[in-house]
Amino acid sequence: MNDNRPIGVFDSGIGGVTVLSKLVEMLPNENFIYVGDTLNCPYGVKPKEEIEDLVTKITKYLLSRDVKAIVIACNTATANSAHLAKITDIPIVGVIEPTAKYAYKVSKNKNIAVLATNVTIESKKYEEYLEKYAKRRIIKRGKRYYVKCSEFVPVVENLEMNTDISNKIVGEKISFLENKKIDTVILGCTHFGLLSKDISRVLPDAKLIDCGRPTGERLKKILNKKSMIASVNLTGNIEFYTTGDPIEMEKQIFWFDKKHEQTKKIEL
Ligand code: DGL
Repeated sequence: MNDNRPIGVFDSGIGGVTVLSKLVEMLPNENFIYVGDTLNCPYGVKPKEEIEDLVTKITKYLLSRDVKAIVIACNTATANSAHLAKITDIPIVGVIEPTAKYAYKVSKNKNIAVLATNVTIESKKYEEYLEKYAKRRIIKRGKRYYVKCSEFVPVVENLEMNTDISNKIVGEKISFLENKKIDTVILGCTHFGLLSKDISRVLPDAKLIDCGRPTGERLKKILNKKSMIASVNLTGNIEFYTTGDPIEMEKQIFWFDKKHEQTKKIEL
């Protein structure tokens, strides 16, 4: 059985497009509806209630578009999404758990740094998963570092990656991690995949893990299990929506190389 209805994907802004990019590669027959809440970006410094409210509004919009599943392509929103189970029973896939699990698996020495927004770090979601996995080991438990990096988000939204500005902001924040023998860095904010070069400049030996692939694997598994995969005869379509300025968002996603419809404005 197939289900050709679209998959909803959302983020506070354009960071989630890094996740969408992987989803499209892994599930080329699927239709996607992406919502970037650029009007309200950044989420990572907002109070919990406000984030929950924004997450509810976007979810309701996506449900009104008859999506078959939703991917929360935002760590901050994922950390504030438990209430969605009361709103819908379609599959909701967050980024945190699959990414934490995958990163822990690939790390050899279990010295892992998590770079995320202030709200995500304060939610302790990554910490819950990683420390639970680490406790299961008898020796070589390694050490984890949880770093609040909300300052990185505007750098990406303003397209200042790989510049002197990004170099300085990233360097000031994470250079204390040098010499800590970190072999794995979790990009615990979907915007940070676009800062990979800046982060690797400070931590050249660490493997950077972004949320796209692990989240895509999780989504694929769920859709397969529920017989909800789109027909192989379908060429997936990608729609983009923003709560902000569509022309601005088109500029911000210039690097997204998959065929897609022109970004449109929505009000939530
Ligand atoms: N992209 C979002 C995340 O993964 C956060 C950016 C923001 O602060 O809005 O957490």
